[in-house]
Amino acid sequence: MNEKALRELLEAHSQTHLMRWWDELDAPAREELARRIGEIDWSETSLHAEDGARGEISPIAGLSIDEIEKRKEEFYAVGRDAIRAGKAAAVLLAGGQGTRLGSDAPKGVYDIGVTRHLYIFEQLIRNLTEVTDACGATIPLLIMTSEKNDEETRAFFEEHGCFGYPREDIYFFRQAMAPCVGLDGKLLLEDKGRLALSPNGNGGWYASLERAGLVEKMDARGVEWYNVFAVDNVLQRICDPVFLGATIVSGAASGAKVVRKNDPHERVGVLCLEDGLPGVIEYYELSEEMANLRGADGQLVYSFGVILNYLFRADVLKRISRERLPLHAAKKKIPYLAPDGVFVQPETENGYKFETLILDMVRFAETCLPFEVVREREFAPIKNRTGTDSVDTARELLKKNGVEL
Ligand code: UTP
Repeated sequence: MNEKALRELLEAHSQTHLMRWWDELDAPAREELARRIGEIDWSETSLHAEDGARGEISPIAGLSIDEIEKRKEEFYAVGRDAIRAGKAAAVLLAGGQGTRLGSDAPKGVYDIGVTRHLYIFEQLIRNLTEVTDACGATIPLLIMTSEKNDEETRAFFEEHGCFGYPREDIYFFRQAMAPCVGLDGKLLLEDKGRLALSPNGNGGWYASLERAGLVEKMDARGVEWYNVFAVDNVLQRICDPVFLGATIVSGAASGAKVVRKNDPHERVGVLCLEDGLPGVIEYYELSEEMANLRGADGQLVYSFGVILNYLFRADVLKRISRERLPLHAAKKKIPYLAPDGVFVQPETENGYKFETLILDMVRFAETCLPFEVVREREFAPIKNRTGTDSVDTARELLKKNGVEL
């Protein structure tokens, strides 16, 4: 885009301040800035993109631990056969910034070992390898990174020989970035020729996979199911044959691993039906009455807490990819270059990051099987350095599950 077109575009969106230092930039820097501005999806940077009102909420039927236990062998056999037939792929979401953990490095390189090294990525690879070994099969592992951590993540895997996972079965792909906006609606600059950008949320995983040409590759490998999961749950069962088999048998287009809520007010998103379609409702969106509602069995009715481990059928994802997921705006502290040219690390929230979320994809899948798992065996998220969902709590849970630290 030439300078004139760029100015016109920015004027149309009231963002001409982005060219404040244009005259100081050399040709490559101008080109890069123009390219980035040209890539902006303006509908994704609007402050009007706040979360919408919810529809009518009702409970969703799922498989309880007891029911799963009774049919475990049947489900396992179906899942194992699908894995052996090359129908399953694993998608590791590792594009987040992990700000709560307070490390600049990719979250997966965090060392949770005590007397020896045990990296988060390493533990996840072990969990996946348990399944490939048991099934005697290979599973492609697709790892989503962001511009901010891509190089470091790839280098880390290379340096550690992919922790023994077959190199040819690992595929890295980068997620897209979204521009950050100040509280006044003006896009923020990180440097004189650089927009302040942040990863566009885990909802963008499939679009990014497609853009990287990996959907075609997975189609060629015969993949029919994607198991998508977060980097931070070190007890994560990946491509769990029982979960896969149960979802296939149920006929649902997607599945979600869930844990029973500890108490009515636990801060976890809950799987339910919204206007008859599956969806995840946040804890603060549940009314007091709904949060406390109990069924005839004494269990909380809205108690299926999602743990970010989903299965999606490949053909359904192709349809979902044409839908626009809702955009969530999160108020954050965003470092930026002030108009006087001084770089500022704000101490209070000064702008918004925009994200789409994977939990919104479940709605577009139209059917979803909630699959209950034992929390202490499958859920040890590392979000914070200490306290709840931290390195400390995850270590305890790993030890309880026989993992040597
Ligand atoms: P979180 O919501 O915990 O975000 O991500 P985060 O960025 O890792 O951590 P905080 O909030 O900054 O502390 C849940 C999962 O989604 C991935 C993360 O890597 C994690 O596996 N994710 C999140 C992405 O892959 N891309 C994103 O843009 C955001």
